[in-house]
Amino acid sequence: MKVLVTGGAGFIGSNFVIRAREQRPDWQLTVLDLMTYAANLSSLDRVVADIDIVKGSVTDADLVDELVAAHDVVVHFAADSHNDNSLDDPWPFIDTNIVGTYQLLQAVRRHDKRIHHISTDEVYGDLELDDPAKFTETTPVNPSSPYSASKASADLLVRAWVRSFGLRATVSNCSNNYGPRQHVEKFIPRQITGILEGVRPKLYGAGANVRDWIHVDDHNDAVITILEQGRLGETYLIGADGEMSNRDVVLLLLELMGKPADWFDLVPDRPGHDLRYAIDATKLRTETDWRPAHPDVRSGLADTIDWYQTNQDWWRTAKVVAETRYDRLGR
Ligand code: NAD
Ligand code: DAU
Repeated sequence: MKVLVTGGAGFIGSNFVIRAREQRPDWQLTVLDLMTYAANLSSLDRVVADIDIVKGSVTDADLVDELVAAHDVVVHFAADSHNDNSLDDPWPFIDTNIVGTYQLLQAVRRHDKRIHHISTDEVYGDLELDDPAKFTETTPVNPSSPYSASKASADLLVRAWVRSFGLRATVSNCSNNYGPRQHVEKFIPRQITGILEGVRPKLYGAGANVRDWIHVDDHNDAVITILEQGRLGETYLIGADGEMSNRDVVLLLLELMGKPADWFDLVPDRPGHDLRYAIDATKLRTETDWRPAHPDVRSGLADTIDWYQTNQDWWRTAKVVAETRYDRLGR
């Protein structure tokens, strides 16, 4: 199978390519990535001899058409992905996440290929902290930020192309990923690399917001499973029952990294900050044999800390850029 992986030099996409090389060695993989600030080509060092890499944008209709025609399946990770940046400058999110997805859908339709669209639980908005409810595939979309609104828009485009044009497509909406090769602007790597540099973790607001953490390999295993066992036209929620408040995540990182429990600062909150995400993955667990292999967030975080400690060359330059931007945003 020839698989076109958009955004394959980013966090989840690069882990997907590495995982797919290990688990499906017969797949031929091509990465299409614009190599924005969020990409790191060295993430693909282990597999670079076995894959093709094309630098370009999913918004480039001619390039997308040519690449889609030459592959069987598109796995579409490419996106501008960081909420704080979308609040600062929404346009790249509209362009890549909406227009880029449109270009892929049109090319997939023209050439009668298959696409799996990677999306996020954030399209459903947020839940109250004390609400026992979780998101399911039938929860109405209700996005809060420019990023999540752009992802919801892309999801709706996929659904429309399925219904109106019979496109062979699936969608997955996953909760917050953690693991190796995640950009240092994101919450967990920001705090780990900060602690390694002697900087106290920064919690937005009171640190009470809850995220539902999943190891990136569990997300990618679910994507491979959906490609092989998922029903065309369907949406699957991916989550591993990893709900934790941001404060509890920081306390765990401090404990694992040998720092006192009060060694953090509260900083101004993110505007429109979603309170809580939680995934009910019953549909995925019922229809497929996927099960998370890393349900223990504590041991997954310990491995992630080791990775950032060992791979400081990977993140040092990006750290300076990310913290300069955070200084400007006052967070
Ligand atoms: P990331 O920011 O680490 O990587 C995104 C990649 O897309 C980068 O390599 C970037 O260069 C590339 N890219 C950006 N614009 C592009 C364009 N116009 N054309 C081609 N490539 C482009 O993001 P991530 O965290 O790996 O997220 C990947 C996907 O998973 C996104 O669609 C995101 O919405 C979704 N997702 C992320 C999470 C999470 O916790 N990180 C959870 C659920 C879903
Ligand atoms: O839920 C899936 C989404 O998870 C993905 O769609 C997004 O691409 C991904 O970025 C992530 O979005 P979040 O906004 O939840 O992730 P982020 O890492 O930015 O923040 C996680 C939580 O931590 C959130 O409640 C904000 C908070 N936070 C973040 C940073 C960077 C802090 O308290 N301090 C920080 O320094």
